[in-house]
Amino acid sequence: MDVIVAGSRAELDEARAALGIGARWGDRDGRTLALVPTMGALHEGHLSLIRLAKEHADHVAVSIFVNPLQFGPNEDFSRYPRTFEADVAACRTEGVDIVFAPSAEEMYPPDRQVSVSAGHMGTIVEGAFRPGHFDGVLTVVLKLFNLVRPSVAIFGQKDAQQLAMIRRMVADLDVPVRIIGAPIVREPDGLALSSRNRYLSPDEREIALALSRALHEGAGHRTPWEIVAATRQVLDAAPLTVDYVVLADPATFAEVADDHVGEAVLAVAARVGTTRLIDNVIVTLP
Ligand code: PAJ
Repeated sequence: MDVIVAGSRAELDEARAALGIGARWGDRDGRTLALVPTMGALHEGHLSLIRLAKEHADHVAVSIFVNPLQFGPNEDFSRYPRTFEADVAACRTEGVDIVFAPSAEEMYPPDRQVSVSAGHMGTIVEGAFRPGHFDGVLTVVLKLFNLVRPSVAIFGQKDAQQLAMIRRMVADLDVPVRIIGAPIVREPDGLALSSRNRYLSPDEREIALALSRALHEGAGHRTPWEIVAATRQVLDAAPLTVDYVVLADPATFAEVADDHVGEAVLAVAARVGTTRLIDNVIVTLP
């Protein structure tokens, strides 16, 4: 069956029914559905999430929605890449069953009032540089969960704090969706794939390689202090502006203590020209 493109709640419900998925949540009354939430401009990173989704459910829905709520006033909402036709074609090639692409009006009626608060975790690390960002992410993701009602949803480790916050939300608000994290897909030279990479000029792309190089360098050290210092040293040598370098608990995103043992996420954010990039790697402290 060809991919069904649904632009409204009603079309989404029809698409679910066409696949034999019941109106209720989860897999109790029919076949299972996985959701891959995206903002479109699909690249191999997104496609890897779709492929993983197929391993975890009978059917796959991809949402494409550039969520105005998660962009700050000085961020790139209006110029965010929108490549809808190519995205649908890519979904078709990957065997996606449903593309849910609502309008902003469909998602956010003018009389809306209530939204999700990300709590303290939404104010640290990435949240400190993007006030309100995680409230906007969690609000749209919860709405997408309520509308699509998947059994599982796939998110990339690329946005490590986002993944941690979504795990926190489903636990704290008893949302019956299993969250699966997917590894970061990179270019052969190390650059993490991102829809925002298309903003980079060839020179800037070269500079942007410092992020993955810095993480690789940092991950080769043993103590939190050395790891962060080595990462910072590589970034400081490049013509970019560092927002943060942090070694954080993967679940809480609190900075780890210097005697921390076990897994931690080494996360960086930097601006190359006007483009803001993030990247991270999991390190295990002996
Ligand atoms: P977007 O940036 O389009 O990313 C959609 C999903 O793809 C996210 O889970 C993200 O972590 C994952 N992803 C992006 N680049 C990746 C890469 N190189 N490797 C692996 N996965 C990658 O994240 C969002 O959209 C939005 O915040 C959203 C969750 C859709 C809510 O609006």
